[in-house]
Amino acid sequence: MFSRLSLAAIGISTLVAAAPNFGSSQQRCSSVSFKLSATAENAVFASPPNPENETAIEAFVKSAFSANPPATDGTVPASGTFTINGIYCKPTVPMPHRGAAIQILVHGITYNKTMWSGLGFGDQYDWHKFANAQGYHTLAIDRLGHGLDQGGQPWQRQQYPDPLNVVQGAMHVELAHQLITALRTNNTGHALDRGFDKIAYVGHSYGSFIGEALARVYPEDADALVLTGYSTSLNLGAGSALQVASAANLFPARYGRLPLGYVTIAEETQREAVFYAGAYDKRIPQVDYLFEDTVTDGEIGALAFTLQPATTYKNPVMVVTGALDAFFCGGPGSCESALNATGQFFPATSNFEYYAPADTGHDLTLHYSAPVTLQKVHDFLNKFF
Ligand SMILES: *[C@@H]1O[C@H](CO)[C@@H](O)[C@H](O)[C@H]1NC(C)=O
Ligand SMILES: *[C@@H]1O[C@H](CO)[C@@H](O)[C@H](O)[C@H]1NC(C)=O
Ligand SMILES: *[C@@H]1O[C@H](CO)[C@@H](O)[C@H](O)[C@H]1NC(C)=O
Ligand SMILES: *[C@@H]1O[C@H](CO)[C@@H](O)[C@H](O)[C@H]1NC(C)=O
Repeated sequence: MFSRLSLAAIGISTLVAAAPNFGSSQQRCSSVSFKLSATAENAVFASPPNPENETAIEAFVKSAFSANPPATDGTVPASGTFTINGIYCKPTVPMPHRGAAIQILVHGITYNKTMWSGLGFGDQYDWHKFANAQGYHTLAIDRLGHGLDQGGQPWQRQQYPDPLNVVQGAMHVELAHQLITALRTNNTGHALDRGFDKIAYVGHSYGSFIGEALARVYPEDADALVLTGYSTSLNLGAGSALQVASAANLFPARYGRLPLGYVTIAEETQREAVFYAGAYDKRIPQVDYLFEDTVTDGEIGALAFTLQPATTYKNPVMVVTGALDAFFCGGPGSCESALNATGQFFPATSNFEYYAPADTGHDLTLHYSAPVTLQKVHDFLNKFF
């Protein structure tokens, strides 16, 4: 059912071309693919956009960031067997008590698994490298519908299912649950060839929404949650101001075959303005825009699924969000209170903490404060792992 895609199998040069951000990590990191089956109760939209009409899709996405988000009309089961690709990295400094501990890293919208490696800008932005040096295994995944083909067997090709009806938060949660179930089983059949008994779910932005919803639906799955670029105070205005366009039209060479419901941010300056703030290397947003990934109309339209408290989740939670985050912090004065208030979504947690790196925007691991953020997160995780 599962199989391994090793560096040797596809050749390092192919891999570097497909994912230039592996940096110096070839020794300990490899591409892996999981084949997971899931069924989710996805939202049914009362007035779905015509999937062939980009104007209607853009209007639908914009409306999701308004006071009147798209109306839904119940749910319907969506199912499938999907490939989830990842970058898996092993500890560089083995710690016996963390020998079976793994962090699952889940990216936000218009990103993919490579964001956790720093987009090629060096070790200071590399989450894997930092975690691996503290004894953790790390697995950064491409959420369903994200990332590009990285070669391998036909079943390992990236899939782009129906963006509106299949690629939604409820499906991401079911797939995360299937992935964690596989990793907790000491079954040498799956891509990592071993089991894990401690699992930290680490999200960024929409990946944090999924983590929060996972904790609500499957409260036993994560032994700890680290929710970055996140709070329960979502500034809708930052999203509604964004111009989006179908990725197939904006970047035809890369995304030409994607359905129009896979959209992305149309303007480089807008992308920088919402994802970056304060102190950062000004070259990063340029590369970030050129290689940006997508978000689906279904993910944005069904956001409400991820905005409900995880009332029975008992394990520790840390929220880490840049003090200048345009989406989730109201600025230096009000950021910490927004993060503190986010604790209300986790009333049963054994431990709630938050941290707001100064001079830092939404993409916190791509700012100069990244090493401090990484240290703070690991100070938290190391208490429980
Ligand atoms: C596409 O959608 C827009 C906005 O809903 C609408 O005004 C336009 O007529 C549609 N175009 C076609 C060809 O259906
Ligand atoms: C992911 O995004 C990066 C840039 O953020 C890009 O270079 C890469 O081609 C994308 N695809 C995959 C499979 O990671
Ligand atoms: C799985 O194997 C690891 C060592 O590789 C061990 O620490 C852990 O307890 C095992 N878990 C289960 C559920 O058997
Ligand atoms: C943080 O939130 C808790 C309740 O969740 C509240 O009791 C406390 O007063 C808040 N602290 C600050 C500084 O806002």
